[in-house]
Amino acid sequence: MDRIEIEGIKHLKGNIRISGSKNSSLPILASSLLLHDKTIISNVPNLTDVSFMIKILESLDSKVVFNNSKCQIKSSQPKSLKVSYDLVRKMRASFLILGPLLARYGYAEVSLPGGCAIGSRPVDLHIKALEKMGANFVVEDGYIKGNVKGKLKGCEVLLKKISVGATENLLMAATISEGKTVIKNAACEPEISDLANFLIKAGADITGHGTKTIKIRGKEKLGGCEHSIIPDRIEAGTFALGVMGCSGKIVLENLNNSICDHLKKIFKPLDVLSLKKKNKGQKLVVEKLNKNFSGVKISTKEFPGFPTDLQAQLIASLIKSKGKSYVKENIFENRFMHISELRRMGANLSQDGSKVVISGVKQVNGAEVMATDLRASSSLIIAGLMAKGKTIINRIYHLDRGYENLEQKLKNCGVNVRRLS
Ligand code: EPZ
Repeated sequence: MDRIEIEGIKHLKGNIRISGSKNSSLPILASSLLLHDKTIISNVPNLTDVSFMIKILESLDSKVVFNNSKCQIKSSQPKSLKVSYDLVRKMRASFLILGPLLARYGYAEVSLPGGCAIGSRPVDLHIKALEKMGANFVVEDGYIKGNVKGKLKGCEVLLKKISVGATENLLMAATISEGKTVIKNAACEPEISDLANFLIKAGADITGHGTKTIKIRGKEKLGGCEHSIIPDRIEAGTFALGVMGCSGKIVLENLNNSICDHLKKIFKPLDVLSLKKKNKGQKLVVEKLNKNFSGVKISTKEFPGFPTDLQAQLIASLIKSKGKSYVKENIFENRFMHISELRRMGANLSQDGSKVVISGVKQVNGAEVMATDLRASSSLIIAGLMAKGKTIINRIYHLDRGYENLEQKLKNCGVNVRRLS
């Protein structure tokens, strides 16, 4: 299994080109199952999660050509509407094919996604919403089998909990269902708007995306389109928190104005971190200021709040800060797998339920640590940058799921890092 060896560094300095968003690419790739004509998607990051989703599309007889961040897809009537456990177990986002398959073909058999390191990850909201549109489900041998008599029917659905995935599944299904669908209490993440904008280019009738109420008028069929994936705000936030942890100045490139504004807003409490837009938000200059910092209180929230996907990286970035900081995780019930590994490097962290208190220490030391999930592994990278000596991070396949060319991007900032097979 691949491991990464990283040397601690005094400060980061360099330019990093941010890749396309993983969490926008996955639903957009899944939604290609709805489209009758060829679609061309650019700025797609070369990640293992993207490869998993492409494998799933190919198992459903879509023709996919993916190189140089460009993905050309042509879907066709799948010979089988059953997606194997072996493909779905690897990635929870595989569940996003349920809505498109039910809407277009009236049947889908998808293995129930297992839980993962950050919690049980139920899919009840997805199921209840699609049932309301007329789908019937049975669970047999670990598979969820859905079928629809005729076409899915548009309706008003109130999601009892804000869910990115359930909003996406419902949004996709509604684009070719009969009549009008209103999604209430919808998630507002930029990745949802990117999915909606992609589908609108292919002929869908969607309004309200990016707000808590999304309205969709079902169409007979959707065509194809060309689309470029928005930048990955979580990757950008991860590198910004690297600067927070070990100082320096980096320029993040290939961003857009709204993502820069979002990052400036969520990092505002970190008043020693300066974020300055350049080229109308195409670039963001991130610099650690030489001023006093005595800790911060941050709780994760749905968009536009502080993202849960940056919680692990935030904690790592604070382990050498003066004073005490308080981080609360409100989205997932168990997203603290990184705490024990950070402690092994000398961090002083105390966890009480969904809260973590970080008491800054003068020094943390390189160690051999274990990645447990995607964002936990990026928090160990940040801690490795802040540590004295070498850190070896095992099970680095977790990182490859969500960070494209990570070693090269770190080397561009002066980091001594290498992958050990
Ligand atoms: C998406 O996951 C992201 N993944 C996650 O990013 C992200 O952490 C999460 O949204 C929250 O922002 C992708 O976009 C591929 P949810 P998703 O449904 O859709 C509960 C990363 O690191 N829930 O918004 O699975 C759920 O347990 C990944 O890139 C139900 O109870 O998240 C959680 O507590 C990790 N029932 C909360 O809602 C359901 O049917 C939010 O989950 C669905 C969700």
